[in-house]
Amino acid sequence: MARVFSGIQPSGELHIGNYLGAVTNWVALQEQHECFFCIVDYHAITQDYEPQELEARTFDMAVSLVAAGVDPEKCVLFVQSHVPEHTELAWVFMTVTPLGELERMTQFKDKSQRQESVLAGLLNYPVLQAADVLLYRADTVPVGEDQVQHIELMREIARKWNARYGTGFFPEPDAALSGKARRILGLDGEAKMSKSLGNTIGILEQPEEIWQRLRPAVTDPARVTKKDPGTPEVCNLYALHQLFSPSSTVEEVAQKCRSAGWGCLDCKRVLADNMSTRLAPIRERAAELRADPDRMGELLAAGADRARAVARETMREVRERMGLLPGEARAPANR
Ligand code: TRP
Repeated sequence: MARVFSGIQPSGELHIGNYLGAVTNWVALQEQHECFFCIVDYHAITQDYEPQELEARTFDMAVSLVAAGVDPEKCVLFVQSHVPEHTELAWVFMTVTPLGELERMTQFKDKSQRQESVLAGLLNYPVLQAADVLLYRADTVPVGEDQVQHIELMREIARKWNARYGTGFFPEPDAALSGKARRILGLDGEAKMSKSLGNTIGILEQPEEIWQRLRPAVTDPARVTKKDPGTPEVCNLYALHQLFSPSSTVEEVAQKCRSAGWGCLDCKRVLADNMSTRLAPIRERAAELRADPDRMGELLAAGADRARAVARETMREVRERMGLLPGEARAPANR
């Protein structure tokens, strides 16, 4: 049995991209492995954000995850800042991480370019990510392609720490790219689906809202009017049909598109209906969870307790191996 760790930013409600791309994979993994799933709020504050909104976004992410099937009975689901050992181990790792490695991270380069003054938290983002995983000595990290570089650095950090303080103590985790490595495009048909680009559909949206989002979505550009035949394979909406519609519908859609039997709006109508139906049980579970915020708070507190039990033990061993004076004892035992 592998020990699995993954993290997700507290971006509020899940969208269908992170639902299909990541969370359905988590739901499958929790059946067979020991899984730690973490809402990474300390990572979220490395970029511009509204303090008044973060709490709600974190809560909504927790609701979305549980509604989507992440089961606090089958995995450890918790909020990163509830387990202070994450930042503690991050500090330790900063002392073995080469600055040059951090500076060459693609994500750091992208994000820092857009900033007037680059903050140390952004640079050290991957160090905290390494601490997240290694605190649980997890060996498997389900992530998207864009995180592979961070996982490689994580392996290097584990190697460096091990070489100095304790051979074999930390594993070198592997990235587990979700089988189909599905990159779900946004409704603009261009960029990856992402909340910050506003090209998403939330998994908790009402049927009418789903329709309002799909209606203007970009399709095959060759279909200028209803009479122009289209090529399903180049259409992002067809890709979404493949994810949400039964295979008989997918075939019908392809055929009606090629023959210009349907206009794009007809096709979108069918997709909106199928999407709404598929997401209905998730919407219902989310409504129940929202109705009882105390219960959700208790679930997260229980998750943090379970995570902490492991985290505390790792940190105890880390401190010991690094020669830090134990806090329990007032003075070294044999003076
Ligand atoms: N950086 C990851 C992302 O943006 C989120 C994350 C934080 C993470 N800590 C993690 C993912 C640990 C996997 C393991 O998607």
